[in-house]
Amino acid sequence: MKTTLRILAFLALIYLIPTAYLNYTEPVEHWDWDEINLDDISYPENFIWGVASAAHQVEGGHTSNNWADWENQVDKDGNPRIARGEKCGVACDHWNLYPQDIKLMKELGVTSYRFSVSWSKIMPTEGVVDTSAIQHYSDMVDSLLAAGIEPMITLHHFCHPMWFEEKGAFEKEENISDFVEFSKHIFLPLNDRVKYWCTLNEPAVFVIAAYFDGNFPPGKQDPKLAAEVLKNMYLAHVKVYESLKRFEGGERAQIGIVKNMHQIDPMNDWNLFDRLLSRTVNKGFNGSFIGTFTEGKYKFSFPTLVDLEAEIPNAPYSLDFVGLNYYSHNAMDFSPDLDEALKTRMYPGELETDMDYTMYPEGFYRAIKEISVLNKPIIITENGVADMDDDMRGEFIKKYLYAVSKAIEDGYDVRGYHYWSLMDNFEWDLGYDERFGLYEVDFETQKRTLREGSKEYQRIVKAN
Ligand code: FCB
Repeated sequence: MKTTLRILAFLALIYLIPTAYLNYTEPVEHWDWDEINLDDISYPENFIWGVASAAHQVEGGHTSNNWADWENQVDKDGNPRIARGEKCGVACDHWNLYPQDIKLMKELGVTSYRFSVSWSKIMPTEGVVDTSAIQHYSDMVDSLLAAGIEPMITLHHFCHPMWFEEKGAFEKEENISDFVEFSKHIFLPLNDRVKYWCTLNEPAVFVIAAYFDGNFPPGKQDPKLAAEVLKNMYLAHVKVYESLKRFEGGERAQIGIVKNMHQIDPMNDWNLFDRLLSRTVNKGFNGSFIGTFTEGKYKFSFPTLVDLEAEIPNAPYSLDFVGLNYYSHNAMDFSPDLDEALKTRMYPGELETDMDYTMYPEGFYRAIKEISVLNKPIIITENGVADMDDDMRGEFIKKYLYAVSKAIEDGYDVRGYHYWSLMDNFEWDLGYDERFGLYEVDFETQKRTLREGSKEYQRIVKAN
């Protein structure tokens, strides 16, 4: 008996000491939704309500960027890079149809539109600016303002010109100056009318997909390079911020970066290995961002794969706001086989969306809390659900917006919210089957139809 007790005590000790060390004792948070009144929400008077999109996903007509090139490639087994071998093509033809799309925004009642500008259309060849592309965005900004909608521009949303890709894009620190130069060409003609600027969209998502998993261009699988590219992208943000701030109107501009705070949680709260693994991955994905923008210290490490540290001392002074994208979390299930261990999985017991993540509104509150350590105003720049059958969109909207409202009530400084997306569009390597739109798009006829579930958003926007 004594021996058994001793063994048990010993086992408890080797479990508890590292658990305490991990400083991660709270179980993954879940709320009791049956006890929650989803109509119990309130938003400040000047809260920004908006919708979001990105150039490559909606505009159509991209011929010379990294994604246009990627869709013509196959992987090492001869499979197409985009699901079902799809091509982006004219997408939603938003380039031509934006006047009618602005009417859709009016119909929703939103007062802000986050969109990205296409670097490859503005600078199709290195050093050459196509003034007609600048004029296009300038006209679009005027139309938005005339409709009472505030434009918010993203400078880099997962795509860049082929000439930049061929030079090694953000793999090389010396290429950052190209991005700074491009930013100037669009900022100068528009900043008299555009107040909100996002430099880069979700660098960590982009880098994991493009340099770790290899399912975004350039399709590399190189953890060390991934860590380097991420560092360069954070540095690029700082350089663009500093450069734009020096121009006339720079002070008035509100410039931020967009971070997806997707949490990586342990599959099993009580499994020490799951915890250790999820904590390590979470530190790389989210911690590297927080460290950079709070202390100027970038760190990305994973035992045996990568360990990179760098100082970006000005990073904490390079944000007028932070853009927060939030969709969900994933779980880690430890395995001694590294490839198996690094697979992210859906958290059990939660409702699955059409993407490989679940509905997890509690995580939205957590994400707001986590990013609030930056001490900057938070603008939600993306949140939405892939739901082809439209059977969870309404519930998604109500629950996620409940979580944001709770966070505001608890004192977190959230200034605005943009739903992803205004309409169905080209979902990167997954192609056209992921339906994120408030409006359903018939890609044959370009007809847009408001989905039933989306009316929850319209209702909440109009009521608040
Ligand atoms: C985000 C991207 C956006 C879209 C949504 C679904 O990570 O920023 O372009 O793909 O996911």
